[in-house]
Amino acid sequence: MSATELRLVLLGCPGAGKGTQAKVLCERYGMTHLSTGDCFRAESAAGSALGKKVADYMKRGVLVPDEVVNEVVASKLDALKGGWLLDGFPRTLDQAQGLDRYLRSAGAKIDIVLSIAMKPEDIVRRLTSRRSCACGEVYNLLSRPPRVEGVCDKCGKPLLQREDDTEATVRKRLMVYEDLTSPLVAYYRSGGVFTEVDGALPVADVTKGLCAAVDALAGSPTES
Ligand code: AP5
Repeated sequence: MSATELRLVLLGCPGAGKGTQAKVLCERYGMTHLSTGDCFRAESAAGSALGKKVADYMKRGVLVPDEVVNEVVASKLDALKGGWLLDGFPRTLDQAQGLDRYLRSAGAKIDIVLSIAMKPEDIVRRLTSRRSCACGEVYNLLSRPPRVEGVCDKCGKPLLQREDDTEATVRKRLMVYEDLTSPLVAYYRSGGVFTEVDGALPVADVTKGLCAAVDALAGSPTES
């Protein structure tokens, strides 16, 4: 199987490092990165009808209703050619079953599920220390500070804190994760190719663990 054709799901609680790792994996293997969170933030910033519909849920740290998310993801996947990596979707059993149905009807399946495991108590400090740039670059005051405080190394624009990265909202998001998303680990663990990596390791070590699992399935891109 060619790595660019892979269909991959990346699981992990808020702040586990899904976005950070998704970027590296998609660069390495050439599949398309689809983050429902990034998509909703972009729609919200653009003031679209979808953005207006999802903004309040995101601000409160609760999930956007399944029917809205399932429809958005199906239309994104319809438009894609080649492999993809889903980041932040599925997030409920209903979404996972919706994705299964969608793939079955397309004669396709998920090739591998990667899970980044983190203890919730380590997440609050990590997420309240995250800073992001409109250009997509993500920093962390603890583990990856910008060279100049408050300024993006890459494009020089001011860094922002996500509205849902306040301590109270992070705690709410973690509760929602525990209730609605964590059961997906057991769902996928029993259902096929599943690998879990410790998300408390340094970024490069997490990448190494995830890539080892993908390479075992599709071969290393540097070998082909
Ligand atoms: P979304 O944007 O998906 O947020 P999330 O799942 O809460 O995940 P985050 O983006 O906060 O974290 P991440 O795991 O990507 O970590 P990152 O790599 O940035 O969703 C936001 C909202 O949208 C939801 O609350 C919901 O309202 C809505 N939504 C989205 N999808 C939905 C769906 N399917 N259904 C319903 N609603 C949905 O890393 C975090 C920080 O840690 C960064 O600063 C990074 O630099 C740092 N870091 C990363 N890895 C490491 C490491 N190994 N060591 C040290 N620091 C690290």
